Amino acid sequence: MIQLINVTKIYNELKALDNVSLEISQGEMVFLVGPSGAGKSTIMKLLYREEKPTSGQVFVSNVDVSRLPNGQTPLLRRRMGIVFQDFKLLPNKTSYENIAYPLYAIGMDRSEIKKRVHGALKVVNLTNKANDFPKTLSGGEQQRVGIARAIVQGPSLLIADEPTGNLDPATSMEIFQLLERINQRGTTVIVATHNQQMVDQMRRRVICLSSGKIVSDVVAGTYSSRT
Ligand SMILES: Nc1ncnc2c1ncn2[C@@H]1O[C@H](COP(=O)(O)OP(=O)(O)OP(=O)(O)O)[C@@H](O)[C@H]1O
Ligand SMILES: [Mg+2]
Repeated sequence: MIQLINVTKIYNELKALDNVSLEISQGEMVFLVGPSGAGKSTIMKLLYREEKPTSGQVFVSNVDVSRLPNGQTPLLRRRMGIVFQDFKLLPNKTSYENIAYPLYAIGMDRSEIKKRVHGALKVVNLTNKANDFPKTLSGGEQQRVGIARAIVQGPSLLIADEPTGNLDPATSMEIFQLLERINQRGTTVIVATHNQQMVDQMRRRVICLSSGKIVSDVVAGTYSSRT
């Protein structure tokens, strides 16, 4: 479902990705690890088309997103959910409204929105906080709202960039287990993380980047496994 072919990304003078090729199948759960500045977020940004590669191709569901006209970006993002380290919730909207927001934006009717949002709230186990505002929620709860918002459109791909960077170990564990449950429902999940303990515990595919190159790619790997 995802294919990077000889992808190089240069920001100004700096080579953030250096001829990276990579394939991820539908239904996989993959951890992207590696030191700060290795290029993890850059790969994610290429997938959701926040950035374009300097050279090479980036396919998501057989579409070369690097060649997608700008106008098609919203359509691409409708088929993927994106989860951020800092949650990116709208502070003046409730959990329900935050999750419903992308659905309103595409003009879905209210009864369908209600059904979908309640479904997403159930997945993240936050039905009881539907009408609460972000500032009254814990970090873990805010991230669960962020995840509900990301899955509300039923994406085939979920991308999470350092989703537990602001959370304590117990809460991080909850979030990783939630991502695993979402993966078990058939969604491809890609997580960039520095959370060594979680990666080691979950024994999924681990791709390690260093200085813009893939240095290892292990099927049931650990944070520091090497091929
Ligand atoms: N918009 C930008 N302009 C210039 N340089 C950038 C930009 N975005 C990233 N870089 C550089 O590209 C390199 C890769 O950055 P990237 O954010 O992909 O790393 P990362 O692996 O996600 O790191 P971290 O673990 O700290 O999040 C870094 O050297 C970074 O400074
Ligand atoms: Mg990053």
